[in-house]
Amino acid sequence: MNFHVLTLFPDMIEAGLHTSVTGRALKNGYIHLSAVNIRDYSKDKHKHVDDYPYGGGAGMVMQPEPIYLAYEDVTQNMEKKPRVVYVTPQGSVFNQSMAEEFSKEEDLIFLCGHYEGVDERILEEIVTDYVSIGDYVLTGGELPAMVMVSRLVPGVLNNEESAEFESFHDNLLEHPQYTRPVEFRGRKVPDVLLSGHHGNIDKWRREQSLKRTLERRPDLIETAILSKEDEKYLKKLKKGLHESE
Ligand code: ADE
Repeated sequence: MNFHVLTLFPDMIEAGLHTSVTGRALKNGYIHLSAVNIRDYSKDKHKHVDDYPYGGGAGMVMQPEPIYLAYEDVTQNMEKKPRVVYVTPQGSVFNQSMAEEFSKEEDLIFLCGHYEGVDERILEEIVTDYVSIGDYVLTGGELPAMVMVSRLVPGVLNNEESAEFESFHDNLLEHPQYTRPVEFRGRKVPDVLLSGHHGNIDKWRREQSLKRTLERRPDLIETAILSKEDEKYLKKLKKGLHESE
């Protein structure tokens, strides 16, 4: 997959994605990345890429032309028009099925906005998808673009390695994990994990998953895949919760 990120902060994209799992995927050639500096396409002698909003108001708006020239440069040798994702809190919230959709593309362009926004006409002209990473407003689209790229790397999405990255099994949160030492600042590893009894360990882990999900993400319980045992344990937990109220 080829990722092209149109941005005013290419160094941020390069530094972020050349690290850890995405860094390895880049080094091994599973993905390609070009972080394109929109400012390089400014025709202004001071390399400005933004201007005051028509109609007045606070802040600056990114101009359409430098973005269009960057887009033309990136797409000139592509056989078909690529999908262009504008990362914006006004978009649909990114999720696993969107990631699966995007991962089918050979080329994917991310457009990162800044300042108060981007001239609407460039969005109408080139953007195919408006995507947000959640209901909070960041100062730019770079972190959201990196979040999405890291979710689209082969090996993270849909293959045997993906279990490592999965926080959800049966739509429940993962149980707590422990490693050495056995005691850390007075906190001991639960005895059951040291017992070597795999049946008991599996049962304890399942119960911890259920407990943690009920406490932290009760909304997930609705869609979780639960056994009769799970239901019984949850009932016990809920009763305990009510009693402590
Ligand atoms: N740009 C600013 N905030 C954003 C968000 N939450 N998601 C995507 N792009 C953004």
